[in-house]
Amino acid sequence: MEIEVFTTLNAIPDETINSKTIIVIDVLRATTTITAALAAGCLEIIPVLTPEEAIEMRERLEDDRVLLGGERNALKIPGFDLGNSPLEYTAEVVAGKRLIITTTNGTRAIRRAASGRQVLLGAMINGPAVARAAAAGAADITIICAGTRDRFSLEDFLTAGLLVDELSNLGDFNLRDGARVARDYYRVHREDPEAAMKASYHGQILAGLGMEDDVEYCARVDITNIVPVYNSGIIKSPVRGTE
Ligand code: MLT
Repeated sequence: MEIEVFTTLNAIPDETINSKTIIVIDVLRATTTITAALAAGCLEIIPVLTPEEAIEMRERLEDDRVLLGGERNALKIPGFDLGNSPLEYTAEVVAGKRLIITTTNGTRAIRRAASGRQVLLGAMINGPAVARAAAAGAADITIICAGTRDRFSLEDFLTAGLLVDELSNLGDFNLRDGARVARDYYRVHREDPEAAMKASYHGQILAGLGMEDDVEYCARVDITNIVPVYNSGIIKSPVRGTE
C-alpha cells in the first residue's frame, strides 16, 4: 500500500482519488473547525462552495436546527450564524444542530475528494485518530492539502507530515516522494508545531486579524478521537461527540 501527498488542488489525477482512501487537510481552519463542531455534538455538516448555495440549502431544508457557518477572507459571512473559528463551535452552540459550511479553500478540497473510496478529514487535533481510521481501510492513501488559493500551505503540509509519520507506525506503507518529504518536514518541527504554524503565511494573516488563539488551538496535537467522514455530500462522525 502506498501513501501520496498533494500540496494543492491543482492537477490531482483522478486515479489518485477514485478507489483510494482520501484524507483532506485544511488545518487553518476548516478541517479543524469541522472536527471541533462534531466533537461538540453537531449532528452533521454539509460543505458547499458558495454562500448563496448555503443560504439556498437552508431554505430548502426547512429545519430550524440548521446553522450556517464559514468565512470569506477569514471573516464571518454577513447573515451567517458562525464564522470559521473552531473556538466558536461549542456544545452550547452546535450540539444537536446541523451545519452548512462554506470556506475559501477547505470546502473546495472536500468536494474535490468526493469520488474517493473513503474520505476522511484530518487536522492536528485528530491526526492520530484519522491515521488509525485510514490505516484500517487497507487501501492506498492519498492526502490532499487544501492549500491557500491554489498555493502551497506550510501548515497543511506539516499536518500531512504528522499523518504520514503516524501511518508509518501503523503499517508497511510505501511512501511516494511527497509523503516522504512531508514526514521529514514534520519531524523537524514535531517538538513545536505551533511555532511552525504561527510562521506560516495564513497563520500570520489570522494573527493579524486577532485570531492567534485559533492558530494555537489548530496546532494542538491529538486532543480528540473524532474522525469526520465525508460521504454522499454529508460529513458525519461515526462516534457521536459530546464535548
Ligand atoms: C479556508 O477554507 O480557506 C480556511 O479555512 C480559511 C480560514 O482560515 O478561515
